[in-house]
Amino acid sequence: MCISLFILLLLITTGDYFSKQNDDKLIATLDSAQIRKEGLKLYNANCLSCHGVGGRSTSFGPALINRIYSKGNLSDRAFIQAVNYGAPQRNWDYGPMDPVEGLTQTEVAQILAYVRSEQERAQKR
Ligand code: HEC
Repeated sequence: MCISLFILLLLITTGDYFSKQNDDKLIATLDSAQIRKEGLKLYNANCLSCHGVGGRSTSFGPALINRIYSKGNLSDRAFIQAVNYGAPQRNWDYGPMDPVEGLTQTEVAQILAYVRSEQERAQKR
């Protein structure tokens, strides 16, 4: 999970949501398991209603554990963009996705880390 941590660090250093001091505190207190745990909470509050438990879909949105969204097919940047700016209807008949409001970029990175871990788990089966 070094990669996710890297993304988080990258986003923190480029984002303007936290002061430098808070960043240092955050980095010092979060390991990758904790990042995913925070991501799970944020996912459940912001994404579950459409993408389902563990990214396994609902009638309002596709399964994020689908291979078409795995790292090789949907980059971290594209994932983050979908959250920040929304996504057009592309692969399904659910309609487009609206931007998800009210998340800091650190929180988006935590959600990404959680979803990536669910994708990896699903693809091992
Ligand atoms: C109101 C419903 C809704 C919510 C809430 C929602 N999504 Fe989506 N999302 C969709 C739909 C519908 C699509 C499929 C668009 C399509 O046809 O490709 C989608 C697509 C996506 C995609 C793929 C984008 C692409 O470029 O193909 C990602 C990644 C994604 N959502 C992540 C998230 C995350 C993370 C959250 C929570 C922060 C979230 N979504 C919240 C409905 C939702």
